[in-house]
Amino acid sequence: MCGIVGYVGNREATPILLSGLKRLEYRGYDSAGLALLEELPRAVSTSNGHSAELVTSTRLIIEKCKGKVTDLEEIAANKPLHSTIGIGHTRWATHGAPSDVNSHPHTDQNDKIAIIHNGIIENYAHIRDRLIARGHSFRSETDTEVLAHLIGEFYSQNHNLTESVRLALNEVVGAFGIAVIAADDPNEIVCARKGSPLVIGVGNDNEYFVASDAAAIIAHTRQVIYLSDNEMATVSRSGIKTRTISNIEITKPVEVIDMELEAIEKGGFAHFMLKEIHEQPRTITDAMRGRVIEEEGNVILGGLQNHLKDLRRAKRLIITACGTSFHAGLIGKYMIEQYARVPVEIEYASEFRYRNPIVDDEDVMFAISQSGETADTLAAIREGKRKGSLALGIVNVVGSTIARESDAGVYIHAGPEIGVASTKAFTSQLTVLALLTIMLGRMRHLSVVDGRSMIRELLQIPDKVQQTLDSTERQITEIAEIFKDAANFLYLGRGYNYPVALEGALKLKEISYIHAEGYPAAEMKHGPIALIDENMPVVVIAPQDDVYEKVLSNIQEVRARKGHVIAIATEGDEKIKELAEQVIFIPKTLPVFTPLLSVVPLQLLSYYIATARGCNVDQPRNLAKSVTVE
Ligand code: F6R
Repeated sequence: MCGIVGYVGNREATPILLSGLKRLEYRGYDSAGLALLEELPRAVSTSNGHSAELVTSTRLIIEKCKGKVTDLEEIAANKPLHSTIGIGHTRWATHGAPSDVNSHPHTDQNDKIAIIHNGIIENYAHIRDRLIARGHSFRSETDTEVLAHLIGEFYSQNHNLTESVRLALNEVVGAFGIAVIAADDPNEIVCARKGSPLVIGVGNDNEYFVASDAAAIIAHTRQVIYLSDNEMATVSRSGIKTRTISNIEITKPVEVIDMELEAIEKGGFAHFMLKEIHEQPRTITDAMRGRVIEEEGNVILGGLQNHLKDLRRAKRLIITACGTSFHAGLIGKYMIEQYARVPVEIEYASEFRYRNPIVDDEDVMFAISQSGETADTLAAIREGKRKGSLALGIVNVVGSTIARESDAGVYIHAGPEIGVASTKAFTSQLTVLALLTIMLGRMRHLSVVDGRSMIRELLQIPDKVQQTLDSTERQITEIAEIFKDAANFLYLGRGYNYPVALEGALKLKEISYIHAEGYPAAEMKHGPIALIDENMPVVVIAPQDDVYEKVLSNIQEVRARKGHVIAIATEGDEKIKELAEQVIFIPKTLPVFTPLLSVVPLQLLSYYIATARGCNVDQPRNLAKSVTVE
């Protein structure tokens, strides 16, 4: 989704902004732009008309285009821009198609102010009509340009920049993360947020950064201030002033981000997605680190320690999430209901937030989110909290909005996930859900012996994931070559592997643009079977668990209709070799943990099919890494 970066200091702003924008490319975007304030020295005659005095004025320069940051870089290279203050943006179109004119930054009616904006201004049409009646004219179709003009209205009434932004924001309805500069205020960036993340970086030597994602500024500083909703800041070379949008001055703590630069670089892999798939043995270990007490067959999740009573008392758990995180949650439901015997409801956050769900104070909600910024998930936990539920987060990005707004939670510690298609976050979410299952189980009916054997098996999962990567990757590149031109794929699984089928299909469609559907294997006969013919590859997840024989029957049904079966099976399974055209083996584990292994070949399959089709794996079309709009 859109990205924001800003800089004020003593260095050239353009390279800092461009490299920051490149770090934000993974979020998904369709155009990019910069606004800079260039100081122009000019000679002015003195009153006696003899000598000349040097004064400076400031010019607002905007460069923007549809396309990639490299296109913007080329434009900037051809026009050396000298400035020590500026803002940069990557846009993901909401109002108005991707185009040069709709790209950010946008300016006000006097071309004095430039703004970049993440989010959506919901009442923009109403404000635009009002401004048109006052003589304004607009170049773009965007809601952001309307906000620029509204700020410009106040600015032209002699309010300073901070106050003009503040007054304008008091009139808008919707979500925003913004950064604003003005030609007549060449020392400051004004930024604000509501519903869209914004972080301010504190650098050395009186330099400061603004970003929608710490990844954009981590190369320069680890010291940051997170703005909360309805807060704004005036950032200048002499420091940061923070206030609420209702004009109450506030003091914000400077926090230190724990993120290494290598974590957001490719480290020799062709794509971030492949790197992240390969990181999973380590990230699963990190998700468990310090959390298991093997001897007691139990788990300690530090973030939940103050809420053990609520968890013990809970009559029902509600999990809410979107996309891949939803699939992890669905597996979590199966795990928790089997081992802890607590009823779990799981619902897409986008549905939950709008349908007046039944929630009470005996429920405990879990919001699962990699980014911690997904607008629907955030709104769902706010709704749950409003209805009296305890809201807990299972989140990756430290300091993200969901992490901060939940009553408590558990970080999955997967490190930055840059590839748009979520991979390592999924397995880390599953690991945390498995730990939660053991903890909830031990509070209820799970014996120490059973808890211990689950933990022992879980501790072996990182090695088994490594084994899966080592033994299947080459074979999967060959399978990808065979099926890369298929128009459709079907993914089937049962029990714990039904959500894995959903996840495998989601991964394939996201990055290869092949239509794919995930189904509970037994449901195939109730409809999708009509689609099966000699052109249909069917991926069947068939580990040797208690529904194994049933899944074999489903494979027979596919074969009888000439479908091509690619099976994910337990190593040593000779029987399945006779039934499936392709068999990818994974190590044996407890059924509850098979998703942690069975998803790995599906991630690789989608990756290799997408690369064989020449798709942009890390930045698939139309997708955004963190979906901060509804
Ligand atoms: C799929 C994917 C998305 C996200 C979804 C939720 O690969 O990345 O489906 O899983 O947008 O995002 P988070 O987990 O950040 O809330």
